[in-house]
Amino acid sequence: MPATVVVGTQWGDEGKGKFTDLVAKEMHMVVRYQGGHNAGHTIVVEGETFALQLVPSGVLYDHITPVIGNGVVVHPATLLAEVDMLTSRGIDCSRLRVSGNAHLIMPYHEELDTLTERWLGKNRLGTTKSGIGPTYADKATRVGLRVQDLLDAKIFREKLDIVLKEKNRIFAKVYNRLPVSADDIAGHYLDEYLPRMGPMIADTVSMVHEALDAGSNVLLEGAQATFLDLDHGTYPYVTSSNPVAGGACTGAGVGPRHIDRVIGVAKGYLTRVGSGPFPTEMHGEEADRLIEWAGEFGTVTGRRRRVGWFDVPMLRQAIRLNSISEVALAKIDKLDQFDVLKVCVAYEYEGKRYQYPPYHQSELHKVRPVYEELPGWRTDLSDAEQVEQLPDQARDFVKLISAEARIPIHLLGVGPSRHQFVHLS
Ligand code: IMP
Repeated sequence: MPATVVVGTQWGDEGKGKFTDLVAKEMHMVVRYQGGHNAGHTIVVEGETFALQLVPSGVLYDHITPVIGNGVVVHPATLLAEVDMLTSRGIDCSRLRVSGNAHLIMPYHEELDTLTERWLGKNRLGTTKSGIGPTYADKATRVGLRVQDLLDAKIFREKLDIVLKEKNRIFAKVYNRLPVSADDIAGHYLDEYLPRMGPMIADTVSMVHEALDAGSNVLLEGAQATFLDLDHGTYPYVTSSNPVAGGACTGAGVGPRHIDRVIGVAKGYLTRVGSGPFPTEMHGEEADRLIEWAGEFGTVTGRRRRVGWFDVPMLRQAIRLNSISEVALAKIDKLDQFDVLKVCVAYEYEGKRYQYPPYHQSELHKVRPVYEELPGWRTDLSDAEQVEQLPDQARDFVKLISAEARIPIHLLGVGPSRHQFVHLS
């Protein structure tokens, strides 16, 4: 069976968790392919809210094997706390597997993330300070520790001693900090985390291929989103992995020919946490209203998100970068109270019109969005179940985005709950 990818088309927080959960019903395996506990996926099931950072959303279904793929960076304390939280609420986590090739986030990664942000001052990226960037950096420079290293205490300790020689010089000489103790870290990772994580550690590439060969449905679940991608996002205001659909291949260990469906999740407006260009950003009272109404505060950091109008040039680019086959449009109920809605259909800069974000980022900072304005629907959409129950204005809003981006929109999110969505034909 071919695999399906779910990918965010904006700057994250599009509502991927809800749509992944919805699609997961038909799946046998859900694999997270990148990122770490910087992500926050919220799923509401029968009035109960589950906020997941690391465990794939498929865990909420008994028939699914949830897998943390090799492309993920794993913070063991968060993973175990999440398993405890889920278990205490009656969710069986015994099927959860973690790739032995995934990299471990270590305490010095978290500290370096915080110190670098402080050192960057007003130029800071606005990271989640979870240690994501430093962990992927160590992976690339080949001094990272992998989950499988936990299974060999001697190797774990040797690698830790090697890397700490350099890290502790950096802490002392650059940041005037006390050294990190290898004994303390080994104590936590080998004595505390390993006994609980040991049974989860697996050759997940073989698991994924055995599932595909057996004709099972496999969902590859991305975290963050297209414009936070290390290669294709608004660098340097990006995360340190590849959320784009291509990242699903490296991060789960499948070739592109295994993927035949890519669902792009967009929300009816835009948000961004942290710094970086944002052509359709709202300001003032308009922004305050949407932030309050939509509760746009970060799941992981609690930070107030920046908000903006829907941006079709970005969606067009996301469709190209991910080979998106269909779009799920989330949270359109959050636009219920606007008299007028704006959709950016192109950008203009120095007399030139752009259908896609300009390649040169200095121009992206200066483009002027070209808006189409539509009347708002001023109705509560949260009870809509059928397309016929949607007001004309809401259907026109969706039609405009679909026509401008030339992509079918099959699903609309009208509320946080599992059942609050509308299928469009
Ligand atoms: P990092 O991933 O913690 O290194 O943060 C890099 C950038 O990605 C920052 O602007 C973060 O706010 C942003 N970011 C990371 N994870 C998420 C997410 O799950 N949703 C939205 N933004 C995120």
